[in-house]
Amino acid sequence: MRSLFVMDPLETLDLSGDSTFALMRASTGRGWEVWWCHPSAMWGEGGRAKARAQRVVTTAAGFDRQEWAEVELADFQVVWMRKDPPFDMTYIFTTYLLDLVPPSTLVLNNPAGLRSRNEKLFAAAYADLTPPTLISRDIQRIMAFTAALPDRVVLKPWDGNGGRGVLVSRAGDPNLRSMIEVLSDEGRRYILAQRYLPEIVAGDKRIILIDGEPAGAVLRVPGTADHRGNLHVGATAHRTTLTPREQEICAQIGPTLRAEGLVFVGIDVIGGWLTEINVTSPTGIHQINAFDGVQLEERLLDAAERRAAERS
Ligand SMILES: Nc1ncnc2c1ncn2[C@@H]1O[C@H](COP(=O)(O)OP(=O)(O)O)[C@@H](O)[C@H]1O
Ligand SMILES: [Mg+2]
Repeated sequence: MRSLFVMDPLETLDLSGDSTFALMRASTGRGWEVWWCHPSAMWGEGGRAKARAQRVVTTAAGFDRQEWAEVELADFQVVWMRKDPPFDMTYIFTTYLLDLVPPSTLVLNNPAGLRSRNEKLFAAAYADLTPPTLISRDIQRIMAFTAALPDRVVLKPWDGNGGRGVLVSRAGDPNLRSMIEVLSDEGRRYILAQRYLPEIVAGDKRIILIDGEPAGAVLRVPGTADHRGNLHVGATAHRTTLTPREQEICAQIGPTLRAEGLVFVGIDVIGGWLTEINVTSPTGIHQINAFDGVQLEERLLDAAERRAAERS
């Protein structure tokens, strides 16, 4: 087996916690040939996707970097799209290049799914599973939605990640309109307004789904200095299990994820409410492995091998 990881530069990875590195290490462990490339080193020519890529072997300390070569993506069994956001036009165009890869190669997550599924709107489409949510760039409409909420409102950019730009406010807050103006760039950019879930103080649960099946979860509890449950802004990771409600959420969305080739997905659940379906480059397997004594990267590779075998 040969696999190619489309990703951020190797030197930017935090090896102790990076999910992509865990996948590369497990692939090396299975005797696969592992290559990596940056999206900027990909191109299309003659209807085919190509890249300047480097072969690597993972070691205890990191990577043993080997030769560089111009490769054709069709010559790999598996191509992992693991570029971190921003989800911008360059990211989207990279998925178009991945569309040039023939069906005999497994690309995951499926580039069409990466394009069509916005992480926050995908969740919002399941109205029964998500908190009341408005998606708009009309400042007046967002003000009115906030006024009708029983308590606070959460405002977030449509394309955020890692908690960036997530604000908490309430009707009557003299800063509210100004916050909406800034976040929506005066009504030029869509934002989400969502009912504030006080259960966030108990944590934001990241559940990993592999090929539509829940594989593990980690609870991220916000610190005292910041309301957000994102680890890099001070939230702490805790061991957890799934409640029946969370299992029900997974059961409802799992078949769609599987059908759309969204093999490696991380959902966020606060107080039993689905807030996000992360498809671009989910993380969290390191924490779940540590708490549960599992190796989710091996389960991901099993899923990739299974799907790749169906194609060859
Ligand atoms: N409806 C909500 N109620 C309370 N807090 C929320 C809500 N939505 C988001 N948050 C807070 O913002 C953080 C990030 O939200 P999320 O929607 O997952 O965006 P991101 O993609 O930036 O992680 C959450 O961990 C939580 O602390
Ligand atoms: Mg999140």
